[in-house]
Amino acid sequence: MSEEKILVTAALPYANGPIHLGHLSGAYLPADIYVRYKRLKGSDIVFICGSDEHGVPITISADKEGIKPKQIIDRFHKINKEAFEKFGMSFDNYSRTSLPIHHDTGKEFFLEFYNRGILKEKKSLQFYDEKAKMFLPDRYVEGTCPNCGFEEARSDECENCGALYQPTELKNPKSKITGQAPVLKETSHWYFPLGSYQRRLEKYIIDMDEKYGWKENVLQYCRGWFRDGLEDRAVTRDLDWGIKVPIDSAEGKVLYVWFEAVLGYISSTKEWAKDKGDENLWKKYWQDVETKYVAFIGKDNVVFHCIVFPAMLMAWNDGDKDKYVLPQNVPANEFLNFEGKKFSKSRNWGIDVIDFLKLFPADPLRYTLAANLPESRDTDFYWKEFQLRNNSELADILGNFINRTLTFVQKHFDGKVPERKKIETIDKEMLDLISIYPEKVSKLFESYKIKDGVLEAMNLARAGNKYFNDSEPWKTIKTDKEKCGTTLGICLQAIYTLAGLMMPVIPFSAEKIFAMLNSEKTSWDELGGENLKPGHQLNTPEIIFPKIEDEIIEKQMEKLVRSDDLKKEEPELISINDFSRVQLRVAEIISAERLEKSQKLLKLKVKLEDEERQVIAGIAKSYNPENLVNKKVVMVANLKPAKLMGLESQGMILAVENEKGELNVLSVDSSVKNGTRVK
Ligand code: MF3
Ligand code: ZN
Repeated sequence: MSEEKILVTAALPYANGPIHLGHLSGAYLPADIYVRYKRLKGSDIVFICGSDEHGVPITISADKEGIKPKQIIDRFHKINKEAFEKFGMSFDNYSRTSLPIHHDTGKEFFLEFYNRGILKEKKSLQFYDEKAKMFLPDRYVEGTCPNCGFEEARSDECENCGALYQPTELKNPKSKITGQAPVLKETSHWYFPLGSYQRRLEKYIIDMDEKYGWKENVLQYCRGWFRDGLEDRAVTRDLDWGIKVPIDSAEGKVLYVWFEAVLGYISSTKEWAKDKGDENLWKKYWQDVETKYVAFIGKDNVVFHCIVFPAMLMAWNDGDKDKYVLPQNVPANEFLNFEGKKFSKSRNWGIDVIDFLKLFPADPLRYTLAANLPESRDTDFYWKEFQLRNNSELADILGNFINRTLTFVQKHFDGKVPERKKIETIDKEMLDLISIYPEKVSKLFESYKIKDGVLEAMNLARAGNKYFNDSEPWKTIKTDKEKCGTTLGICLQAIYTLAGLMMPVIPFSAEKIFAMLNSEKTSWDELGGENLKPGHQLNTPEIIFPKIEDEIIEKQMEKLVRSDDLKKEEPELISINDFSRVQLRVAEIISAERLEKSQKLLKLKVKLEDEERQVIAGIAKSYNPENLVNKKVVMVANLKPAKLMGLESQGMILAVENEKGELNVLSVDSSVKNGTRVK
């Protein structure tokens, strides 16, 4: 078989914040394991990534800090590049979309489509902030949901009821920049006719799946998009941060970030080629039908990589310029959560890669994440599991097998690989096992079952320990040194193979293992055989996976509890008079009902002394209305009335939230009189 030529890309992370563990599990770690594996297989491979540095996410972060987008991207490009390096990401190039080479690529694609008449110009009404003198991207506008009346709804989507609508349907819109009501102003944009590619896209995905086996979760997302029908997509925006639209009539407009970000893969490869001293080398991958192109991403990026980007490449390829390859597979992962909840910067929930790697080396993290990849559904990172994977698997299974074998050989065989002279059944079985593992793991990696591949590789270490125990070399060393030598020789062979199998997963440690074996790095196809010749001198063994102590993990978990306990630090001190301004009273719930349009809100009637009030309370997810009736709860009785979903709420019920987000209303027993003041 001729050498495979492979192009692997991993989603370009936005350079507006540090990457966290979830990003690693979603796309980067599986990509890196796959690439390292393929390199061991001898493939001709190039691995591409970089920072996504345009778009509204960047300008929002800059606005928040009151600095320029350029400062944000410079900071986070550097931080993320370093974090990736420390984590062992083996990119061949990590570029930036703010570079001229990328701007040129983005413009080239736009002009190609524009000149060939593929793009349609359309007028539309967009929010415009007259004070800030700018058109407002969707995320810069909030207002009242046209469906449920929620007052902090986003311009095109309501967080409360989940409704999707046109920004023009939003009620009482407000600019997030100036707080003013924006006006609707006509603007014009260029649209890519995605809808007219639907049939070809469907066929493309069916073909690729038939030939290369796409992941079921990815196919599901695609089918969903096709079912809803693809529509024209604007590829320009009114914004001043990004790639300027390269035509005269487009003053103040930039290319839509997703239109150009995906092209970042191409420009990053161009930059790599240039650095290698061969400007055209990128074409060898991007513009050769022999190339196998695999794009690693997280699930939120599926539509852009399976639909939008392929359609753009199809459109390009319909012209008369050199043609591009389309992704042959897009093995997108679901998400990793953190201790049962979504990662959240604002709620301080989760941990950034750079901070993690200040505490622990990369390999235990790589192994833990790999053993628990969200390949078909969301999974969680738990500190306790991290400790367990390190201590009970890396240290007690893999580390122990290596250590006991190597120390034994040092002690009894002068650190030289013993001869294998007496092969008995138990030895033969172990040899057979070692020899089938490379193929076994290979099959899983080839079909993007990275997690299973990693777990399978660890099974060889388990088998090694069992073989060591069953062979009892500590006895045979006294009774039959030849047999003992055979046992140890076979164990060493297993270790060599294990080091190779684990190389893609825990590259730093695998390197140490090879160093202890006094051996050069290997190739995948060599694994499983007799790689270490009798008499070969080994190096002194050292502990590769130190255990992680309870206290260290507990410290991390304590931090978590604290960060979960929002704003506990430095409470503002108030006087008793301040407190007494809040009237807390006991109220009896006399009726409770659901609101049709809301999943969160309940309409309550409550009784205070001799007064009845209506309260709209956000507790519908935690209570059945029936169970609330007759409960005596604590309420803020002098809160200014507010309108929620068009209904007046005359007070607020106190409740506490647990770690799962379930609410528990504060209540007193039935002997307390309605209206009693809580002091
Ligand atoms: N920046 C995007 C994200 O973090 C991913 C962009 S992938 C690319 O979700 F292909 F567009 F670059
Ligand atoms: Zn709503």
